[in-house]
This record gives sequence, structure tokens and C-alpha cells, in this order.
Amino acid sequence: MSRDHASNLIQSLDGWKRTHHCNDLNLDNINEQVCLMGWAQYRRDHGGLIFIDLRDLQGLTQVVFSPEYNEKAHSEAHVLRSEYVLAIKGTVRRRPEGMENSKLYTGNIEVVVSEWKLLNTANTPPFMIENKLDISENLRLQYRYIDLRRDIMNRNIILRHKAVQAVRNVLNNHDFLEIETPVLTKSTPEGARDFLVPSRIHQGDFFALPQSPQLFKQLLMYGGMERYYQIVKCFRDEDLRADRQPEFTQIDMELAFAEEDDVMAITEKMMSNLFYETLGVEIQTPFPKLSYDQAIKYYGLDRPDTRFGLELTDVTDIVENSNFKLFSESELIKAIKIPGGSALTRKEIDELTEYVKTFGATGLAWIKVKESEWQSPISKFMSEEEKTGLEQRLELKEGDIVFFQAGKPDMVNESLGNLRIRMGKRFDFIPKNRYNFLWITDFPLMEWAPEDKRWVACHHPFTAPQEGDEDVLLHEPQKATARAYDLVLNGSEIGGGSIRIHKPELQMNMFKALGISAEEAKSKFGFLIEALEYGAPPHGGIAFGLDRIIMILAGTNSIRDVIPFPKTQKGTCLATNAPAKVKTEQLQELGIKIREKQKENK
Ligand code: AMO
Repeated sequence: MSRDHASNLIQSLDGWKRTHHCNDLNLDNINEQVCLMGWAQYRRDHGGLIFIDLRDLQGLTQVVFSPEYNEKAHSEAHVLRSEYVLAIKGTVRRRPEGMENSKLYTGNIEVVVSEWKLLNTANTPPFMIENKLDISENLRLQYRYIDLRRDIMNRNIILRHKAVQAVRNVLNNHDFLEIETPVLTKSTPEGARDFLVPSRIHQGDFFALPQSPQLFKQLLMYGGMERYYQIVKCFRDEDLRADRQPEFTQIDMELAFAEEDDVMAITEKMMSNLFYETLGVEIQTPFPKLSYDQAIKYYGLDRPDTRFGLELTDVTDIVENSNFKLFSESELIKAIKIPGGSALTRKEIDELTEYVKTFGATGLAWIKVKESEWQSPISKFMSEEEKTGLEQRLELKEGDIVFFQAGKPDMVNESLGNLRIRMGKRFDFIPKNRYNFLWITDFPLMEWAPEDKRWVACHHPFTAPQEGDEDVLLHEPQKATARAYDLVLNGSEIGGGSIRIHKPELQMNMFKALGISAEEAKSKFGFLIEALEYGAPPHGGIAFGLDRIIMILAGTNSIRDVIPFPKTQKGTCLATNAPAKVKTEQLQELGIKIREKQKENK
């Protein structure tokens, strides 16, 4: 029967109430009269019987339409197709021997239907409602409402809900107030581009969507709110990556009369509750700490994955006078040893070389340690003394491969740090089901931005320098350390925060050190400076990337899998086709005119 025909059979609920969900029933419910509602996942016709796997958010139950049990219900059921929506009433019975499905909680029973209603029909779905799909992600995002029906997606969304619940429970129990902050606001300097919203009433002026609620949460502290949190949308117009979205969610918090250890203590409580409530995993607290300098030294990155070793080793002093020109001309030379790595093929090494080039390296030097000699394009340049030095420092053994990177420290660390992760995965050094939390502390306060030829804040300009570093801000900014901390989990930066500046003079000095004139500071942040002059308490806080946390809980590599309606890698929403053109009248009201695209050959 066509869908049009079937549409004539659609009925309303008319007082029918669901008695159970589709994962509720088992042998304890035999002979009970039940009412279930959901979608027809599969239909099978078998020996005069019609079987439907009825699916709702919670699971699946097999329902049977039998001519012997109810002739009418059975004959009408021929209309049913995949994804039709129905409600059934019937009796729970044991499945015939040999027909059980041990993979399902409801696999020992079925419900034989006495009455049912077609609640809606459906077109043939563009893909099956199955966990394993071999289709483009764009098709999934276009039909997200169908994609969300898949068990794996249901579970991710439920997990997200549970995680947020666990966070709220802990914070509510520790005197935090959940407070909303504006979405139409002014630019907050978090280092990305703003999404702007034109004002109709004040033509030519723009709101910015918040990159974070940073300024408002500080104002809340000055307003005496003492402990604030918010599960909040943030907007950053930046290049997308596997763990980034232009619109993402933070667990944002701020505490007055607090220092680093207070923020860390509440974070650790929150994280351990979150992991316990969602995965049943007990997390050890307190979390270990590593300074930024140590993280870079041993792992090359400020978000080290400490679930495995393969630390980097500085070998500059051993090979700095080498006949290998790259080494003798470089500021820093570091090595990473991969036990068993000499199994890597030339092709794989070539691929790794291309990989490190994406971090600015010009190549990748290596040695394979074989029984009696080294196999390496660079060993001919090395003296016996250098070889012995490397052997001893790196504790080389047969079967190892050592990769070297030489040049400017940032490039050396970044390329070897990323290579380390790649090797950890390639050789299966990363244990599963381990959750290594790590605080990174003692970040530099500022870094030099060569393109802008000025100092920029490493965290944001409201972060306080460490005690004693207040005076070096203006003349030796590179020496100042920040009272900032990041929380890293399994190599992913899941949170960052700091103790804030609460003295107006220091805040002005900070702006000055960042090359922001007093005039610009006043126009951009005058309200903040003024507020600091009316009794701002010492305060600090942190924000966590909720989506990144859920990714780790769910064990997925894509941030889009844990967001109900994510943006594509090109920053669009395929569920609604946004962004989209608007009517000319709408633009006129806003005083906006779109410039004609420059002719291509111009
Ligand atoms: P920060 O900029 O470090 O700090 O952001 C905090 C955390 O938010 C997550 N995050 C993102 N997640 C997904 N997509 C993105 N585009 C994205 N950008 C950031 C990260 C990050 O650790 N106001 C400060 C916090 C504070 O100082 O209290 C802030 O926003 O997990």
C-alpha cells in the first residue's frame, strides 16, 4: 500500500498512554497487558505472522501481529513500513524456544498485538537507522533528525544530559548560583574572530556574540554573587578542527575570595562526580600538576597525553658541533625514541616527514638501531663520541628508531610533540579506558605576536601575573608568569582559567604592556576598569569545553557526534541551510548593503 493510502489510516492518540518503554520488558512481565509507542525499525513477514522491531529512545521490543490472536490487527499491519510511527496494545509472552535474542534486554519476550494505531507514515529514510553506516556525514547532518534516531547518537545525547546533570549537582551543592549572561554583547578578547550582529535601532553599531562570558562573570563577582556557574553557548569564528566548533558549550565558573587551589579543588570534585555518574569510573584526585615549561620540555605540547611515555630528549649538547649542518646550525635539537620503531617502512617514514612539515619542519632525521650498526641517512656525519653520547642518553636498544628535529624551539617542540602522539597511536602505546587528568600551570603571561609586532596575552588580558611579576610587566614582559592553569585530559585541553587581576592600576598596566593605549582600553573596557574601582574582591575561575569532555566520555574523535545540531567543517548548518541570504528589506532596515562580488578577472 502506498504511503498516501496509508496516510488515510492515521489515527490520533485519543487517550492511549504508554505503559512501558521499549527496553523495559522481560520474563518478569509475562502475560502483562502493555501499551508501547515508537517507530517501526524492521518489518519481517514470517509464516503468516508480521514481526516489527518497535524502537523508542530507550531500546527495541519485538511486537507480533498474529492472525490467530487478532485477525483485524494482523491484516491492518500489512501497511507498516520502516519508520512508520505506531502505538500498540498487547500481551507480553515468552519467545518460542530458539527465537531468543541474547543481545537485547527484551530478547526473551515479544508482545503479541491485540490493538494498534498508526500514528504517522514515513518516506523511505535516506539511510538505515543503524550504528554502522557507510554514508557521507553531510547526509547525516542534512537529515539529522533521522541520524539522531540511531542508538549511538541517542546514547551520546543522553550522556551529554547526564554529564550536565552531574556538573549541576556538584556546583549546586557547593553554593554556586547558576546565572545567565547576555548573548547580545560586546567583543570579549579570547583570541578568535567575533560573530557580529548588526543593530537595527543603532544603525552602524554591532553586537558581538560572546566568545565567552568572561567579562560578565567578573562583573558578577564585583556584584557580590561570589560563586557563579553557567552551562553556556560561546561563539568563535575560527578555523575548525576535529575538536572545535564555531558555536560550542562551556561549563563556565567563577569564584570570589579564591585562589588556584580553590578552583582546582572544586574542579576535581566536579570531574570525579561527572565520570562516576556517566561512566561509573572512579577518578583519582588530586590531579597531578606539571608546569608549562616541563610539559614543553618532555612532551613538546602544553596539552600532553600522559597515558604513555615516549618523552622527548634534548640532545643539543651532544650533537651541536656535528658535521651534519642542520644540527650545527640549530638552536635546539631534540630526539624521540620509539622502542620497536625500526619496523617502520621507508614509505611510513616519508609520510611522517610530510606530517612534521605541517608544523614548519623542513625534514625529519632518523636512525634505526640494528644489531651491529645504525641504519640512518645521517649516521655518516656523526663521530663515535656523538654516537656514544646518543646511545647513552637515549638508552638505545636494538629495534629502536630515533627521530630528531632541529631548529627553532617552537617548531622542534610542536613537530616532535605531535609526532609523539602519532607514534603512540601507531604502535598502540596508548592504553584504553584510562583517564589521565593533568593540570598545566605557570604559563607565560604574554607571548610575542610577530605579525602584529606586539605582546599578546597567552590566556586573556584579565589574567593576573604571579606575585612578584607585577613589576616586570612593562619592561620585561617575557619574564612574567601567569596565574593561569589548563586542565588536560588524555592530551585534550578540556579547560582553562586563571586568577584575575582585581586592582585597576594593574589592569591598566596590563593593557599598556599589551600595546593597548589608555584611550582604547577606556573605550573597550572602561566599564571593567571603573567596576574594579568599586570594591572588586580577589577572584578567579575556569571554563571547560563541555563538547570536548563528552567526546572523551563517548570515545568519539568527532566533536560533531556529541552535538545534536553541529556545524559542518565549512561552518554551515545543514539541518536548516544556515547561513542564508536575507531579504533586501531586512538589510535596508539594518542599514547594510552587500557589496557586489569583485569580478574574478579584476
Ligand atoms: P578558553 O578560551 O581556554 O578560556 O576556553 C575554555 C575551554 O573551552 C573549550 N573551547 C572550545 N571547544 C570547542 N570548540 C571551540 N571552538 C572551543 N574553544 C574553546 C576548550 C577550552 O579549554 N574565559 C576563559 C575561561 C576562564 O578564564 O575562566 C576561556 O574561555 O576546552
